[in-house]
Order: sequence, then C-alpha cells, then structure tokens
Amino acid sequence: HAAFGHGPHFCLGARLARLEATVALPLLFDALPGLRLATEPGLLPYRPGLLVRGPRELPVTR
Ligand code: HEM
Repeated sequence: HAAFGHGPHFCLGARLARLEATVALPLLFDALPGLRLATEPGLLPYRPGLLVRGPRELPVTR
C-alpha cells in the first residue's frame, strides 16, 4: 500500500512513483520468484508517528 495524500498538497510525484512501481516490481518478482516475507506481518516493526507511516524494516527470504 502507498498513499499520496489528498487535496491541494496531493503528491506531485505520484504518477512517477506509480510508473516506477509498475516497472520495477514485476522485474523484482520475476528475478526472485520465491521472494516472501520472512516474518509474520503482524510482527513487522513500524515507525512511530503518522507523518511517514511504514515498516522500519522488511525482512524477506527467497
Ligand atoms: C512511493 C513514493 C511516494 C510516496 C508514498 C509519496 C507520498 C506523498 C504524500 C503522502 C504527500 C502529501 C504530503 C502532505 O499532505 O503534506 C506527498 C507530497 C509531495 N510529493 Fe510525494 N510521494 C512519493 C514519491 C514522490 C516523488 C517520486 C516525487 C518527486 C519526483 C514526490 C514529490 C512530492 C512533492 C513535491 C510533494 C508536495 C506537494 C505539495 O505540498 O503541494 N513524491 N508525497
């Protein structure tokens, strides 16, 4: 999931970020078809605060 804000401050780079993800993620998943989360999703450590929300790290295995 990625969010780009709302209203007058909606992310100016949203189209670029979505295009990059559309190109890069299939390449990544094709190169590493066994890529999996290496922990339970509920155990991922999240950054505190709401400004930039996301996991502090994303351990994976392949
Ligand atoms: C996955 C990648 C990205 C995410 C999740 C993201 C997310 C966001 C969010 C949530 C905001 C709104 C902040 C607010 O409401 O105060 C924002 C604003 C902004 N983003 Fe992004 N962004 C991404 C990539 C980019 C890229 C690639 C660029 C530039 C090439 C960019 C340029 C900007 C700018 C200039 C604003 C400020 C817009 C304004 O205040 O009018 N972002 N972004």
